[in-house]
Amino acid sequence: MDYKHIPVLLREVVEILNPQPGQTYIDCTLGGASYTSALAKEVGQKGRVIAIDADEMAIKNAESIIKNNNFQNVILVHNNFRNLADIAEEYSLEGVDGIVFDLGLSSAQLDDESRGFSFQGDRPLDMAFGAGEVISTQKIINSSPLSELTRIFREFGEEFQAYRLAKEIITVRKRKPIKTTKELVDIILKITPVRFSKSKIHPATRVFQALRLATNDEFASLKEALEATPKILKVGGRLAVVTFHSGEDRIVKQWLKQESLDCLCPPQAPVCVCGHKALFKPIIRKPLMVSEEELKANPRSRSAKLRVAEKIFSF
Ligand SMILES: C[S@@+](CC[C@H](N)C(=O)[O-])C[C@H]1O[C@@H](n2cnc3c(N)ncnc32)[C@H](O)[C@@H]1O
Repeated sequence: MDYKHIPVLLREVVEILNPQPGQTYIDCTLGGASYTSALAKEVGQKGRVIAIDADEMAIKNAESIIKNNNFQNVILVHNNFRNLADIAEEYSLEGVDGIVFDLGLSSAQLDDESRGFSFQGDRPLDMAFGAGEVISTQKIINSSPLSELTRIFREFGEEFQAYRLAKEIITVRKRKPIKTTKELVDIILKITPVRFSKSKIHPATRVFQALRLATNDEFASLKEALEATPKILKVGGRLAVVTFHSGEDRIVKQWLKQESLDCLCPPQAPVCVCGHKALFKPIIRKPLMVSEEELKANPRSRSAKLRVAEKIFSF
């Protein structure tokens, strides 16, 4: 299998996690296994890397990487990271040294012709990372009411034509269900004003991103996984998250901000009644972005942001 993916911010992530021999890390987004491989080399035979991915293609690819490199310290887990708390229990993961997320999709998934992550070509309208997604992309497109379709395009894609597009989809699907990426792209192009149709960013970009986020329930999955991390990390353990979407970055930023505060009572409260304790301290105040050099080599890394925090309190 030819699994193509250029890792983003790999050097920065490894430097900031600072893995040492014998330590344990969880890579929640295995993808092309570059993060996992780098961590596995650093922690050595006495350490462990638990690598999770919802996509069977990533797991299969990593199996051959593990074999070729004779990694005996990597455990592959085919699961959704929203189940991180259960995974940790199953593999007795307590007091781990670091947890990393590198969100979104890999280039291999984008190129996969059996799924419809890309708006190039004509592929089945399926944007699920893994089997078992409750909602399929086709179901979203062919069954969602006007208000829900509009919300998805607006909230997840920041699509300025959200309502118009949702209306047109409903008109088209009354005649025949929309089943392929090309059918959807044709609808998007039909409603795109001429002045935008020649813009550098393809008019379908934001719509496809929105549908992928909705299909995989990505915002909710991320929140659930973040909530699970404090219990799994040791004090001094680090959480690193790479995002590519402003909505995802906002979730990480706000959650880390909240979990870095000792009290969540409203400012007018005379004394603290919530008893909330800060669990993390930020390691870098501002998110780290890719260098000019990385950007030149991999334009896809443009929107990447890395946030890192360290666990400071055990409950
Ligand atoms: C950008 S790639 C990760 C690349 C990886 N860091 C590397 O070094 O190659 C993101 C991966 O996360 C996986 N993924 C995204 N959301 C997931 C979720 N909720 N649960 C499990 N895997 C997920 C995708 O299937 C994809 O393989």
